[in-house]
Amino acid sequence: MTQTPPVDEVRIAEAVRVLEAGGLVAMPTETVYGLAADADNESAVLSTYAAKGRPADHPLIVHVAGIDAISHWAEDVPPEAWLLAKKYWPGPLTLVLKKKARCGLWVTGGQDTVALRCPSHPWAHALISAFSGPTWRGLTAPSANTFGRISPSCAAHIAEDLGVKPEGKLDMILDGGSCEFGIESTMINLSQGRPTLLRHGVVTREMLEETLGFAVPDAGKDAPRASGRLKSHYAPRTKLELVSAEALPARFAEMGAAPVAVMASGEVLDRLEGTPVLAIKAPADLHGYGRDLYENLHRLDRAGAERILVELPPQSPDWAAVNDRLGRAAA
Ligand code: TXA
Ligand code: MG
Repeated sequence: MTQTPPVDEVRIAEAVRVLEAGGLVAMPTETVYGLAADADNESAVLSTYAAKGRPADHPLIVHVAGIDAISHWAEDVPPEAWLLAKKYWPGPLTLVLKKKARCGLWVTGGQDTVALRCPSHPWAHALISAFSGPTWRGLTAPSANTFGRISPSCAAHIAEDLGVKPEGKLDMILDGGSCEFGIESTMINLSQGRPTLLRHGVVTREMLEETLGFAVPDAGKDAPRASGRLKSHYAPRTKLELVSAEALPARFAEMGAAPVAVMASGEVLDRLEGTPVLAIKAPADLHGYGRDLYENLHRLDRAGAERILVELPPQSPDWAAVNDRLGRAAA
């Protein structure tokens, strides 16, 4: 499912022109698709909020071409930030730092911090590098979905949801295949002394702690706002329940004649009495589970079910990002 087509330089050049004219481009990244705009262009950035239906006080991540961009967007950068960027960039880790004056308040939702990320997806990398120029211009890019809905892990999700003008809201969708990881980047706050974890992702807490050599606790209540931390984020329209492997067949039976969609291991699916409107066999490996998670949630949500039952995945630390997103989908 994760074939990345070769980068189409003609499409990239076209996307750069659209962005320079203040337009909106859906951009593939290794995590999820982002809705890109020129971070220096206030009206372009504000139009991403409008397209998503997202409150304008929610800060956006600035996507940059490389480590050298950090000092163009942030100041008082602590040594831990350089260490992490060297280790994990390009890749699915977002650093929250004190912002420089150059970074507009339209990007940060009025806060004095900026979130920076350098994606590794070849299309995103080509696009941002071509756009960057001598002033290290960056692209704001929230996940390319309507606010509160499931994040898109392939171009088709965006075509269905936000769409392209004139019927839809975007100027262009760059189709770079399906996303390798399928779950939004890990976010670490480095703007307030001791680093804290703002959002779980593929770069796990254990990986961060190993690189830094000390514990990285969850961000507390005084942490900067992050919409991914809202309880009901990443929600399908259909009510979703997380159920243990042992309890799932009985819960399914309780639903009686109501249409139910299920995602579970093969063993649990075999134990169901009756037929779900959709049965998805959950990938057993963490990488596959994460990569397919949003696509699977989209499919479950479209199945015409009254309820979605999902088998609770392993509760070990390496599954934290998956459990975090599923927990929010069920909230
Ligand atoms: O993997 C990702 O990070 C994807 C791809 C497209 O790069 N982007 C993404 O963006 O997930 P978004 O906007 O859907 O989620 C970014 C989260 C939001 O919850 C936002 O509130 C938070 O990051 N955020 C952005 N800037 C922040 C800041 N300065 N301080 C704290 N949180 C911030
Ligand atoms: Mg999002």
